[in-house]
Amino acid sequence: YIFLRNETGCCRSRIKNEDRIIRKSKMDRNQIKVLIRQMTLEEKAGQVTQLPSRYFAIQGSQLTGTETKLGISEEKKWLCGSILGKLDAVSMRNIQKENLERSRLQIPLMFMTDIVHGYQTIFPVPLAMAGSFDPGMVRECARISAKEGSAAGYQVTFSPMVDVVRDPRWGRVMESFGEDSKLNCDFGKAMVEGYQGENLKDPDRLAACVKHFAAYGAAEGGRDYNTSDVSEFRLRNKYFPPFKACIDAGVKLVMAAFEALNGIPATANPWLLQDILRKDLEFEGTVISDWGAVLELIKHGVAEEEAEAGRLALESGVQIEMATAAIVKHIEVYVKKFPHLEAILDEAVEKVLILKNELGLFEDPYRGVDPEREMRELRSPDKKRAAFHAATESAVLLENNGILPLTKETPVILTGPYAESKNILGPWSVDGIVEDAITVKDGLILKGGRIKEVIQTAYEEVTEQDSDRIVQTVASGDVVVLALGEPELWSGEAGSRSVIELPEHQISLLKKLHEHQIPVVVLLFNGRPLDLRKVKEYADAVLEMWFPGTEGGNAAAALLYGEKNPSGKLAMSFPYGSGQIPVSYDMAPTGRPKADLVQEPRYKSQYLDIPNEPLYSFGYGLSYTEYDVQVNGKIVRQEQEYLVPVKVTNLGNMTGKTVVQIYIGKKKSLVARPVKELVAYKKIELQPGKSKEIVIPIEEKTLERWIPGKGWTKEKGEYTILVSNDGRNFQRMELTVG
Ligand code: GLC
Repeated sequence: YIFLRNETGCCRSRIKNEDRIIRKSKMDRNQIKVLIRQMTLEEKAGQVTQLPSRYFAIQGSQLTGTETKLGISEEKKWLCGSILGKLDAVSMRNIQKENLERSRLQIPLMFMTDIVHGYQTIFPVPLAMAGSFDPGMVRECARISAKEGSAAGYQVTFSPMVDVVRDPRWGRVMESFGEDSKLNCDFGKAMVEGYQGENLKDPDRLAACVKHFAAYGAAEGGRDYNTSDVSEFRLRNKYFPPFKACIDAGVKLVMAAFEALNGIPATANPWLLQDILRKDLEFEGTVISDWGAVLELIKHGVAEEEAEAGRLALESGVQIEMATAAIVKHIEVYVKKFPHLEAILDEAVEKVLILKNELGLFEDPYRGVDPEREMRELRSPDKKRAAFHAATESAVLLENNGILPLTKETPVILTGPYAESKNILGPWSVDGIVEDAITVKDGLILKGGRIKEVIQTAYEEVTEQDSDRIVQTVASGDVVVLALGEPELWSGEAGSRSVIELPEHQISLLKKLHEHQIPVVVLLFNGRPLDLRKVKEYADAVLEMWFPGTEGGNAAAALLYGEKNPSGKLAMSFPYGSGQIPVSYDMAPTGRPKADLVQEPRYKSQYLDIPNEPLYSFGYGLSYTEYDVQVNGKIVRQEQEYLVPVKVTNLGNMTGKTVVQIYIGKKKSLVARPVKELVAYKKIELQPGKSKEIVIPIEEKTLERWIPGKGWTKEKGEYTILVSNDGRNFQRMELTVG
């Protein structure tokens, strides 16, 4: 059937497609090898080529990278093995149909896109969702994203992104699961499981692509695409493990990063793509380049021209060239000069065909795409409820002098650039439906709040007239809800900023309200940690909403009115401004720890003007209730785990959740290890006044560290165990590992 859509994109009718060619039989490995032997050199080069949708769709595609002039014929274009970028189900079906009519060997096309934190129903940005400390919740969000994305016709998503990040100047921190390697492991694994499920032939699943391999988040100066220079010690202990976690979860693709890592571009780095990825991390799937990264080898200065760039990438271990066509254009030249390349090309083609086979595309190239299913799946109420839940669990209460929660009777003046803005889906919400976004104003009204006035301001300008009007509108007993934040495009890809403050007019308005003793609750909508020193000084409460997605306004209202008790924690430190960057909780002790100040006040590792610790630490987040966290006995070893007994009490009068975090440190080690590193955590819910005695397991494996000259080693001896639920106050325990 071919499906025709009316102007609103809804399915109008379907007409019989009498010439649909379906290969009924499942292909096995041997048949794939036979198929490869039947392919011409050019057909094989085509299979490893992935072209942007705009070269196939009449309209509607969206570029996420730089444009490149392809320079190939229409016929060669149709040899490509996969297409990336925005399309709708009807276009994908028609393109697949034309491909099958043209394909001599009936090899189906694969369709890939960026479904990063939702498809049309958008969840909070990943950096926010990491703050839920609930991988199970994020697995469900990925499952929902797969249902929507596959119903629309896609088969692969370029997600999860698990780049460990320590520099909020880098705009893509919003896409990561933060500064901690374990959180990136746990959430990356959860997303892979949510997207892929147990069987990729299941038509409402997507193959996942973990990215960007590797250490793209360590771009120097936080400037996107810049060089990363990272020691092997850090690469192996911090940056590689999240990829290993996703590989062990069965991720089907790995995307090579744009940047030069330790002098060699990741896209042409055999140490990275073969020695590390294939041998050490045991990846068996498909490596795809990033957008245009193969030709960028010329800009990096490691390739003279296009033909050399394509050959270098292929030889280094890239199996799909994204968005350019160097390999398919020059393959004849390659093989003449470098005959060994054909065997490498065959291996690459085999990876691509195996993936297509795992997706069931040889049996059904249309993979069950059906307009009724698409209409049923997209943006359904159950998915919006999941988006609401994710947004309430990811928000972080940073300050509260008691003003929150508000009562519905509290007269509210709602103002700021996010007062009634729908631009809260955040970067990488490529197919999100902005019209669906619930604004803060919508949310407060839907909750039956008493909204006295709404004064929407611009991001970077609050006129004198507006700020006077706000001040004059406020009467005694009123509260101002000030919805501040960065514009969406100030973070995300290529969204690097040298300073991480809010626009100054937003701070001026907040300061003015403070000077008039007007009670102010600040809501924040942003994709990166910000310098909140002034916000902390002038606000009575600060609720970090991040970019919360489709249900953001409903989540903000439920949290402001106390229907939901904030439980999110920070997955990335909020520094005292750019001068403190890079900053993370897992710093090494140095030979002159500041803690030793008592003896000698100057010659220590410190700043003269700010503390060493960030303004808000990793793991920090308040609630409307207080919790008491107590170590509750001795640590017991049980098989491959150490069980940490903890007793948690809800001291408040509201049901709430808190996250008990377990960190380890090693007193004496072969290397200068971080003072503390997260090894386990547990989110628990408690009724008012209730206590729970829980046991949090530390997996023995998490004690291992990669040590230069020794490899992965579990060091024996004395460990310090730190227990906390706010990343600031710690209970200490000792653990001896024999
Ligand atoms: C972009 C991003 C990558 C994305 C790809 C396809 O440049 O770096 O994360 O998946 O292109 O859109």
